[in-house]
Amino acid sequence: MILVTGGAGFIGANFVIDWLAAHDEAVVNLDKLTYAGNLENLRSLQGDARHVFEQGDIGDRARVDALLQRHRPRAVINFAAESHVDRSIHGPAEFVQTNVVGTFNLLESVRAHWSTLAAEEQAAFRFLHVSTDEVYGSLDPADPAFSETTAYAPNSPYSASKAASDHLVRAYHHTYGLPVLTTNCSNNYGPLQFPEKLIPLVIHNALAGKPLPIYGDGSNVRDWLYVSDHCSAIRRVLGAGRVGEVYNIGGCNEKTNLEVVKTLCAILDELHPDSPVMPHASLITFVKDRAGHDRRYAIDAGKIERELGWTPSETFESGIRKTVAWYLENQDWVKHVTSGEYRHWVSRNYAEHPA
Ligand code: NAD
Ligand code: DAU
Repeated sequence: MILVTGGAGFIGANFVIDWLAAHDEAVVNLDKLTYAGNLENLRSLQGDARHVFEQGDIGDRARVDALLQRHRPRAVINFAAESHVDRSIHGPAEFVQTNVVGTFNLLESVRAHWSTLAAEEQAAFRFLHVSTDEVYGSLDPADPAFSETTAYAPNSPYSASKAASDHLVRAYHHTYGLPVLTTNCSNNYGPLQFPEKLIPLVIHNALAGKPLPIYGDGSNVRDWLYVSDHCSAIRRVLGAGRVGEVYNIGGCNEKTNLEVVKTLCAILDELHPDSPVMPHASLITFVKDRAGHDRRYAIDAGKIERELGWTPSETFESGIRKTVAWYLENQDWVKHVTSGEYRHWVSRNYAEHPA
């Protein structure tokens, strides 16, 4: 079996669902269930004996040691993290705690477990660390896309904490020989994404007739990848990636935020014509910029394509349409995850982003 951490969050849950659709190999899913983790994301797996959910913290050595001893996974895939840049600006401590200290403790547990394995099992074992393109910093319009050799230059507490975790993972390979793999991916979108991130937030606000907040002038660029394509890339890297290597994952879909929001509004106009607010683009509101806002991210995914034959299946046009349709069909899920803590976060964050 494999051990997945953070598998009740957006990408982790998509990964677990896709994994069990493609394999019979069981998954132990360790998740702390922070505000971003939701067991409802895994509802389709209820009653499936191949999925074992364990609530817990990646930083809890005793808990993780016991899980590794009990389940003896052949691989650990680390999705668990604090993942939202705006939250890292409000409260960086949690990011250092989970992303740096948590990853360190997880690596210690995994190293201790791995050192007890027989030579053959040791060679076959993998620790795959899921990271982000944000560790590379910000690009100017004419700069080449991030490659695996681009120097790290993180700009937010979130990206700095992910960069630190990447360095620890690298060090555990070089120092102790732990068979690690690291992936650095661009912005994901798709089903089950918590509506604090741009795309689900805009869909959610548009359906509620609320302003669609665009930080700054909306010209910041992100490189968008449909979540199931990220999951297929991780499966590919786990199966065939060279130990100790880093693989960048991206969709070759660079868009300005304004383009993304206008596209969402146009699809909503078409798929939700009885909306009280038409056109949805009339809700677009430019607000105060994010502190330290990175201008542009772009991924050169040539290495994973050349070495492992991975390319994305969805274009931005097909993926974004599926995403809007999913949110329209899953309003109960949205209602559930946007109660309580979510409302508190939205009023706190957007009070600091006046129009
Ligand atoms: P998310 O915030 O939706 O989910 C994170 C999950 O981790 C949640 O289920 C949460 O409960 C869990 N978690 C948090 N702290 C934990 C802890 N200490 N112990 C155990 N579980 C804990 O995040 P996501 O968007 O699904 O991102 C998953 C991973 O992918 C992160 O490592 C992130 O840095 C990386 N990533 C995300 C994107 C993106 O666009 N969302 C892109 C590239 C890489
Ligand atoms: O690049 C990968 C990263 O992508 C991941 O590592 C992070 O976990 C993930 O959160 C994401 O980070 P971003 O900061 O790029 O994503 P977010 O959805 O928060 O913002 C996307 C862009 O939209 C960014 O330029 C900021 C802007 N934005 C965001 C929000 C929430 C707005 O203009 N308005 C908003 O209300």
